[in-house]
Amino acid sequence: MEKIDPRKYGRIVFFTGAGMSAESGVPTYRGHGGVWSQYRWEEYACQEAFDADPEKVLRFHELRRAAVLACAPHAGHATIAALEKEHPGVTVVTQNIDGMHQRAGSVKVIELHGSLWRLRCPEHGLTEDLGEKYGNYRCEHCGSWLRPDIVWFRDMLDQYVMNAAIAAIRSCDLFVSIGTSGVVYPAAGFPHFARSNEARCVEINPEANEMSSLYDEAIRAPAGKALPELFA
Ligand code: OAD
Repeated sequence: MEKIDPRKYGRIVFFTGAGMSAESGVPTYRGHGGVWSQYRWEEYACQEAFDADPEKVLRFHELRRAAVLACAPHAGHATIAALEKEHPGVTVVTQNIDGMHQRAGSVKVIELHGSLWRLRCPEHGLTEDLGEKYGNYRCEHCGSWLRPDIVWFRDMLDQYVMNAAIAAIRSCDLFVSIGTSGVVYPAAGFPHFARSNEARCVEINPEANEMSSLYDEAIRAPAGKALPELFA
C-alpha cells in the first residue's frame, strides 16, 4: 500500500460510515448481522414509530447505546484523531451516530445523521445524555417525550449540518471514504463534490460497491489496518 503524506494536502476530509466502527464491534446496518436485518426500522427508527410508542423506541436506542459503550475506538480512529492534531485542515464527516471519532479524540466532526448521545425536546431543544440508560424519557421543563437526535428514515437531514459537510467536501483536496456502502443519499453523492474540486479520492472498504468507480484508488482492507498503514 502506497503511503499518503498528509502535508501535501491543504484540506482533508475523512468520510465515514458504519464500516469505520465495525472493527470496534459496532454492528453495521446492512449485510450479515446488520441492524436492519435484525430490527424493522419501521418499528424503531422513524417518527411514526416514535409517535406510536415512544418508550419502545427509546428502549431500542438504549440497547444501541449499551452496545456502543461496550466497544472502544480502534487504531483507525486513533490515526484520524492524531492527524487532526498535526494538520489544521482535517475534518471528519460521518454518517455514524456512535460518537466513536470523538471518543478517539477527533474534534472537527460533522455528524450527518445526528448522535445517539443527544435527545431533543420539541420545545426546549437539545440535551446531551451520555449514559447507557437515558436520564429522562421526558423533558424536565414541559414533560414532552424526548426524541433521540438522530436522522431516522423519512427524516430530512439538518440543512445546516448538510451545508457544512458539503462546504468541507467541495473545498478538500484529499477525500478518504471509509466503510460506507454508498447507498444512502445525499451522502452517497459526496464523492461527486470532491471530484468537482479535483480532490484525490480514496476508498477504504474490503468490498467494492456501486459507488467505487468514483474513486481514484481503492484499498480493499479493513479500516483499522488500512488507516494506520496509509498515514504511517
Ligand atoms: P452500511 O452498513 O450500509 O455499509 C457498511 C459498509 O462498511 C459496507 O460497504 C462494508 O463493506 C463496509 N465495511 C465493513 N467492515 C469494514 C471494515 N472493517 N473497514 C472498512 N469498511 C468496512 O453502512 P453505511 O454506509 O454507513 O442511517 O450506512 C449509511 C446509513 O444507512 C447509516 O448511517 C444509517 C443506515 O440506515 C441512519 O440510521 C439514518
